[in-house]
Amino acid sequence: MKQMKTKRWQLHGLVSPDHPFIREAGALLLQGELIAFPTETVYGLGAIADSGEAVQKIFNVKGRPADNPLIVHLAEIETVATVAEDIPEEAWVLLETFAPGPLTLILKGKSVLSPLVTAGLPSVAVRIPAHPVARSLIASVKKPVAAPSANRSGRPSPTRAEHVLQDLDGRIAGILDAGPTGYGVESTVLDMTVFPYTILRPGAVTLSDLQGALGEGRVRLHRSFDFAPTVQEPERDEAKDTEDTVPRAPGMKYRHYAPDVPLTLWLFNGKTLDSGSYDVRTYLMRLKAAFQTMVAEGVRISFLAYEEDLPILKAALGDTFKTLHVLNVGRRSHPEEVARSLYDVLRSLDPEVTDRAVMLGLREEGLGLAIMNRLRKAASEVIA
Ligand code: TXA
Ligand code: MG
Repeated sequence: MKQMKTKRWQLHGLVSPDHPFIREAGALLLQGELIAFPTETVYGLGAIADSGEAVQKIFNVKGRPADNPLIVHLAEIETVATVAEDIPEEAWVLLETFAPGPLTLILKGKSVLSPLVTAGLPSVAVRIPAHPVARSLIASVKKPVAAPSANRSGRPSPTRAEHVLQDLDGRIAGILDAGPTGYGVESTVLDMTVFPYTILRPGAVTLSDLQGALGEGRVRLHRSFDFAPTVQEPERDEAKDTEDTVPRAPGMKYRHYAPDVPLTLWLFNGKTLDSGSYDVRTYLMRLKAAFQTMVAEGVRISFLAYEEDLPILKAALGDTFKTLHVLNVGRRSHPEEVARSLYDVLRSLDPEVTDRAVMLGLREEGLGLAIMNRLRKAASEVIA
C-alpha cells in the first residue's frame, strides 16, 4: 500500500471548529483523506460519510471485512434525522439523556450515505461523541463522519495516539492527538430497529442506564450475553442458530482485541479473591499449580492484576508470585479504571519478553459486562 507522511497535531486545552489544526484536519477530510481523532471512548478513524472513495480507504487501511458496517458520527442531536428515518420517539429520549456520549443507536437508514458505510444494510449506526476534538472536527466539515476504531482489524482499539500510529502510521493523512481517551472501551451499541431494543455491544451506558430511561421491559441484552456469568461460553453450533441467536451486529462474529501474546482468562466461577470462601482457596491452588507447570516449562508469564488482588495473590502463590511479570490494570472495585487501562496493557504485551498473559474475570454487570465482553474476545483460552 502507498505510504504517506502521517501528520500529528497535538492539541491541549480548549478547541473549537476554528482552531487551525481542526481546520487543517477538516480540509483533508473533505479532500477524501482519513483522519484519526480522539473520542471519549477510543480513537476513531474518520472519513467523510457521503464519499464512497473516502470510506473505501477505511476498509483498506484497517484490513476490515466489507460486511462490517461503520458508525456515523454527528455533532448535533438534531442532525440524526438527516441520516435516519422512522426514528422512534424513545430514540429522542435516549439522545436527550445520553448524547453527546458513549451510546450508538441503530436506526432505519436514509440512503444519503455511501452504501459502504452501512455495508448495504437498511439500518445505520449513529453516535454523537462527547469529546470536544471529535465534535469540533465534525462541526468544521459540516457533514457526517464515518469512523470505526482507529486500529488494524483484530487488534485492541486505540486509547492513545501512539496506539493509532503503531497500527496506521504512513497509511493515513493525519491524527489529532489529545492524549489518552476517557472511557477506554467503545460505545454501547443499541439496536432500535427491533423490540425490545437490544444491546449488541455493552459499553459505559449500561443496561440499567437504558432501562432507567425507557423502562425495564423495553431494553434487553442480546442473547449472546445470556450465558450464566459463571459458565464458559458453549461452542456455537452454527447450524442450530435460530434467527434470534445469529449475531445482529456484523462485527460480533469477528475476532477482536487480540494481543500479540496469547491470553488466558480465568473466571473463578465469578468469585472475587477477597471473598475468602473455600472455593476461592481451591481456585488459588489451581492457579498456583498452573503457574508452576508453566514456569517449569520455561513459559514467561505476564499477570494482568487488579490492584486489590495483589496482596492475596502474593500470599497464596509464595515464591511463584516472584516469577510473574505483574501489570496493574486498576482496582476491580473501580471498573472504570480497568476499562481505561485495558487496551493499553493488552497492547504492551510483547512476545519478546512474554509467552503467556493471564488475567482473572470481573463481575459481569454494569461496566464490568463491557470489560468482560472485550476480554472474552481477546482471550485465546477461557477457564471457568
Ligand atoms: O466508541 C465507539 O463506538 C468507537 C468510536 C470511534 O466512536 N467506534 C467503534 O466503531 O467502536 P467500530 O467500527 O470499531 O465498531 C462499530 C460496531 C461494529 O461491531 C459494527 O458491526 C456495529 O457497530 N454496527 C455498525 N453499523 C451497524 C448496523 N447498521 N447494524 C448493526 N451493527 C452495526
Ligand atoms: Mg473496532
